[in-house]
Amino acid sequence: NRRIRTRDLIAAKERGERWPMLTSYDQYTAGIFDAAGIPVLLVGDSAANNVYGYASTVQITVEELLPLVRAVVRSTSRALVVGDLPFGSYEEGPAQALRTGVRFMKEGGCHAVKLEGGVRVAPQIAALTNAGVPVMAHIGFTPQSEHTIGGYRVQGRGDAAESVIEDAHAVAEAGAFAVVLEMVPGDVAKRVTHELRIPIIGIGAGAETDAQVLVWQDMAGLRAGKTPRFVKQYADLAGALAEATRTFADEVRSGAFPAQEHTF
Ligand code: KIV
Ligand code: NA
Repeated sequence: NRRIRTRDLIAAKERGERWPMLTSYDQYTAGIFDAAGIPVLLVGDSAANNVYGYASTVQITVEELLPLVRAVVRSTSRALVVGDLPFGSYEEGPAQALRTGVRFMKEGGCHAVKLEGGVRVAPQIAALTNAGVPVMAHIGFTPQSEHTIGGYRVQGRGDAAESVIEDAHAVAEAGAFAVVLEMVPGDVAKRVTHELRIPIIGIGAGAETDAQVLVWQDMAGLRAGKTPRFVKQYADLAGALAEATRTFADEVRSGAFPAQEHTF
């Protein structure tokens, strides 16, 4: 019952076994997902939207994300925990990426880091990997670049497929142990999955990748409002929590809670 390691994920690909990945940002969800056998948990910079209430992932800082990384690591015994490097914490080059990656491993206690980009961050991936920091890459649609991309848009359609494929090979050659592939056409994802030895983790990338990741609040229906097309909701936590909250409030107002059994 040891921790999952990066080589276990590569071995799973060799055996043709698919695996699930979720985000997590706190003790209870980390413990539940770990016990349910989710092998990889990502403390995503999506905490910006899903924990801190920012409009965009661009705003979250290393200082805001590290305490959440520590919480998830402390609350798991099996999952490989990946810390997401925030926007601005690795773009300057390999030296900055290495400084931030080392902080995530030392102060956060995570087992790998993730960063966004393909060819342009290959030197960062190589520096981290050579220093002993496993790197999960993230290509296709990369949310930290939403303002240059011009919103949440499918990447790699038509002729643009070649640049996604090129990014995939660049991060693999630089030493990444896995690649998140976000919002690309299914046939492009299929090609990347077949061409690379390392696992491809899809989100909005169809059914042919080696693994699938979702933001946990999307998966469990805690996020209110419209979700992207690639999300499937496996529960209605927002509805369940709203209902429990209304009942609690009603019972306090009516005097039904607390009852005799809750009283010392
Ligand atoms: O931050 C995040 O949640 C992510 C995943 C959706 C891959 O990067
Ligand atoms: Na992210």
